[in-house]
Amino acid sequence: MGRVAVGLAVTVAVAACAVAAVVVGRRVKSRRKWRKVVNVLRELEEGCDTPVGRLKQVVDAMAVEMHAGLASEGGSKLKMLLTFVDNLPNGTERGTYYALHLGGTNFRVLRVHLNGQRSSVLEHDVERQPIPEHLMTSTSEELFDFIASSLKEFIAKEGDGSNISTNRRELGFTFSFPVKQMSVSSGILIKWTKGFSVVNMVGRDVAACLQEALARKGLDVHVAALVNDTVGTLALGHYHDPDTVAAIIIGTGTNACYLERIDAIIKCQGLLTASGRMVVNMEWGNFWSSHLPRTSYDIDLDAESPNPNDQGFEKMISGMYLGDIVRRVILRMSMESDMFELISPKLKIPFILRTPLMAAMHEDNSPDLREVARILKEVFEIPEVPMKARKIVVKVCDVVTRRAARLAAAGIVGILKKIGRDGSGGITGGRGRSNTKMRRTVVAIEGGLYSSYSLFSEYLHEALNEILGEEIAKHVIIKVTEDGSGIGTALLAASYSS
Ligand code: BGC
Repeated sequence: MGRVAVGLAVTVAVAACAVAAVVVGRRVKSRRKWRKVVNVLRELEEGCDTPVGRLKQVVDAMAVEMHAGLASEGGSKLKMLLTFVDNLPNGTERGTYYALHLGGTNFRVLRVHLNGQRSSVLEHDVERQPIPEHLMTSTSEELFDFIASSLKEFIAKEGDGSNISTNRRELGFTFSFPVKQMSVSSGILIKWTKGFSVVNMVGRDVAACLQEALARKGLDVHVAALVNDTVGTLALGHYHDPDTVAAIIIGTGTNACYLERIDAIIKCQGLLTASGRMVVNMEWGNFWSSHLPRTSYDIDLDAESPNPNDQGFEKMISGMYLGDIVRRVILRMSMESDMFELISPKLKIPFILRTPLMAAMHEDNSPDLREVARILKEVFEIPEVPMKARKIVVKVCDVVTRRAARLAAAGIVGILKKIGRDGSGGITGGRGRSNTKMRRTVVAIEGGLYSSYSLFSEYLHEALNEILGEEIAKHVIIKVTEDGSGIGTALLAASYSS
């Protein structure tokens, strides 16, 4: 071999080594970065961990806070609001009643026909429309005028539009925010939640605002009941099944209400009702306990929300927030690695990943996780997501949803414990183990997270079984009531309009 040839061979060998070194170096670097992604995931899993022992602590804390909230005004972060609903509809109601439902993603108008007999399917009509976003932060007049106009259009469709009945109509208003009720048909707004912040509303009588707007539109409609969505759900649940003792909403927001003995509502001594009971709106979205598994993502989400230090339980559980927790985790992963090659600026936009899309990624059963890739592209404009990154995204959704569902289950058992329906005799004492045979106990539930997200409901049931034990859990039935909050409110309007 001549000198030139040797020189060439050496140069080629050196170049090949250099290329190999660069490739290996890149691989090592990329592996190191990938390890960071895995570490972020591991940290998330640890932070969100909800072993049954921890869930039981949450159960106890919920029951204790319920007591504290019933004992004195401001005694707990749980407001335990009186609803003045002391009798739930029983099937004897007659006539046509209306309901308006404000507070979720959709605004709803309903009409329910009651024939005085309990029937398994209630004849009703419903119209849903997304609530125009600008109205969530508009003035109260604009918001209530929109609501009144929607009702007017709905009623106009009953005939050909020209023969709107002149009889006074009775209506129930499902208003899914914390309200301090003065009576079953009046109450003042305590605060807004779920991204609403209509000016000049806090402290005002919500039913009066609606009544005025109805008058402005020339409608002869009487607001007979002002009802939280949980209470409407309980009313319909109880109408269909008298063993229903509580109702839960897990949708855009989350909350619970239940039937309480009047003598247990210590903060309102002297309060009497014919039934000896009253529905209490817990406003459990604001529940807090040091036992809740809180991560840095929750802390950041809370700090950047319009209502910091508020609705802590809701921010870990409900549909308004789950997608955003996932977005925060993915953003951190992409900042610490080259998981998606470039950091998409879209990943930095709060609430851009809505929970239904997160659920769709979580439940993607395709072998190549096609849906995950599609949604990441559509929402975050991330073009080509490698398979291992897709898998990590699914895992993140799983961790966040599992924690939410398990905490909701612990909340439910907390209520059961408070009313002595958890099979242990309850913490109110008095009733010994021997005479606390577990009775059939129904909890009505509404909201997209439970009804449309099957992994969420699976995790919730799994946790109920773990906390209660299978023997007791058999007696606890979770029943979905579709449109229950609206139909139940119409039922309450029927019960209370006279
Ligand atoms: C509200 C509750 C409501 C729940 C479910 C929460 O944000 O504070 O009043 O019941 O959402 O809609």
